[in-house]
Formats: sequence, structure tokens, C-alpha cells
Amino acid sequence: MSKNRVSRRQFLSYTLTGVGGFMAAGMLMPMVRFAVDPVLQAKAGGNYIPTPQKVADITEVPTRVDFTFEQQDAWYNSEETGTAWVYKDDKGEIVALSPVCKHLGCVVNWEGDKSNPDHFYCPCHGGLYTKDGTNVPGTPPIAPLDVYPYIEKDGYLHLGKAEPKKGA
Ligand code: FES
Repeated sequence: MSKNRVSRRQFLSYTLTGVGGFMAAGMLMPMVRFAVDPVLQAKAGGNYIPTPQKVADITEVPTRVDFTFEQQDAWYNSEETGTAWVYKDDKGEIVALSPVCKHLGCVVNWEGDKSNPDHFYCPCHGGLYTKDGTNVPGTPPIAPLDVYPYIEKDGYLHLGKAEPKKGA
């Protein structure tokens, strides 16, 4: 007779532990998946958002481009609007700037102040930026306007997520 015989009590203990673990895993798996799913989807995102701006129509004068996109915030989908100031620089390169002031987040306007032509102007506290989005020293903003990465698709401008200007 083997010395490793399992007693009735041990058998019941192992069986109940196994069944309990199996049931707990069955209950926890949907919860873990529910919690992690949006995080995984956010990584898969990062796509460029189409705008109504035709690339061929972009000039050297900054133009306000409004666009809409769907945003997923955890499990809530909403339609959001975005804005960019878009122009072509001296080399013909497209520049797409965020309108969000780097002081306290108001919205800047191109030539919004008559006494400062060729500048972006923030009306909240008199912030100024040069055409390339660089903040003018002596005014409240402490950093350049964020820059949208972009692609051209089917003749239209598509924008990525605005990020701080490189080298700023
Ligand atoms: S928020 Fe733009 S200058 Fe203060």
C-alpha cells in the first residue's frame, strides 16, 4: 500500500480549492479585460485626423482650420472639435500650430492684435507668438505653441496629436 494515500479530507480540500480557483478566474477575467481594453485600444489609435483643409489651398498666411473627431474616454465616446493654424513657410513646408496658449490655455488668433501684425495674439493676458509659434519674450507664455504632425491624404490635410515644438 502506498504511503502517499490522499485522505478524504485532503481530497475534498484539493477539489474545493480547484473549483473555487476556477470560478474566481471565470469571474475575474471579464473584469480584467473590461479594465484593460481601453488602454489597449488607445495604443492602437494615434491615427491622423482628417481636416476639411485642401493641401493645395494652403498659403503662406496662417489660416484657422477647424475639424471634428471622435474621442474615446474610457468607455465614453464623444465628438470633439479641434483647431489648428495652418500655413506654408518660406520653404513651402506646411506648418500646423495648436491654438492653445502656453500660458494658461486660452486660444490665440493670428493678427488678433492690431498693434502686433504678423504675430499670434492671446487676448487673455496679451501673450504674443511669432509666425512660427515661438513665444515672444516679455509676454506671459513661457513656451512655443505646440505643433501638429501632419500627413497629406487624398489631397487633404490630416493632423496627428499636437506636441511641443522640437528643440523648445
Ligand atoms: S492665457 Fe494666453 S497669455 Fe495668458
